[in-house]
Amino acid sequence: MPPAAALLAWYDRHRRRLPWRADPGAPADPYRVWLSEIMLQQTTVAAVIPYYESFLIRFPTVQALAAAETAAVMAAWAGLGYYARARNLHACAQAVAAAGGFPRDAAGLAALPGIGTYTAAAIAAIAFGQAVVPVDGNVARVVARLFAIEAPLPGAGREIAAHAAALGRDPAAAARAGDFAQALFDLGATVCTPAAPACALCPWRGQCAGQARGIAAELPRKVRRAARPLRHGVHFWLTDAAGHVLLRRRPPRGLLGGMTELPGTPWRAAPWESAEWAAHAPMPAAWRAAGEVRHGFTHFELHLVVMAAEVAELAAEGFARPRAALAAEALPSVMRKCVALMTQK
Ligand code: ADE
Repeated sequence: MPPAAALLAWYDRHRRRLPWRADPGAPADPYRVWLSEIMLQQTTVAAVIPYYESFLIRFPTVQALAAAETAAVMAAWAGLGYYARARNLHACAQAVAAAGGFPRDAAGLAALPGIGTYTAAAIAAIAFGQAVVPVDGNVARVVARLFAIEAPLPGAGREIAAHAAALGRDPAAAARAGDFAQALFDLGATVCTPAAPACALCPWRGQCAGQARGIAAELPRKVRRAARPLRHGVHFWLTDAAGHVLLRRRPPRGLLGGMTELPGTPWRAAPWESAEWAAHAPMPAAWRAAGEVRHGFTHFELHLVVMAAEVAELAAEGFARPRAALAAEALPSVMRKCVALMTQK
């Protein structure tokens, strides 16, 4: 079994400085750990950092977050994507504030909104020092290589989890559970990287079965996924003489629920013909094609055409905002791309 002490010694020298991490030896703040883990679900560290920092300034404690208006939370979250996460974040903050604090163990944490198996283990280890090993994509890759697990994901998940748990039973890992978890994250992010692992720099290089067999870079194997389906939509950039832009709110439930958007057609498999999209335009106007936007969602790829027009006065459903105020709106990333298309030329 690769020794935890070697990884921890490496972590003490090479740990990444991340804003949610406590200083070495200092206790972690459960609110900060929880917030960072929710933000890091399906989002990269680099993308999360600015959101995390501005979120903490607006909502410095779990009580402050619990007491905030939902719209303010959604606006602070806008751009991180996966809005069910923001709704669950708010619901979770309210449950934790009402209970007087976070549960300290993985089972209690996993009962809260938005906290799955991985996130519960990450918070239990990092915030409360519980001897559990959270398995995210980075950790799964490290473990698959270390033990040369050739079965493909997602089927190999259980086998990987069992090996990860075995690593965590090393007394040195159990004594520093939070550091051990974050050391695995950092090893996966900086050394045991997906395409070209830097095995020469790895504290476990002598113990890695994948490296010994020359297959480390190929692991973990994955079952091929079907290509995501393509959907098409048309959105409308309608401005008035004073430079206001017409916006509307999406329905509260479903994809991007409650977020702001430019008015548009539904998103569907077939491209939209002009006679069809015109029926969804907010007002009759001299529409011109202004450009195209592409965006990848988890379950489909979206191609949007942006049509633009100017009218003397906005008289349509929705609400108007000055162009310069759009940055403060709860616009999802796909809509930020549309706004960028219209404001950056
Ligand atoms: N990915 C998920 N959680 C993380 C953390 N605490 N540090 C770095 N990367 C992470």
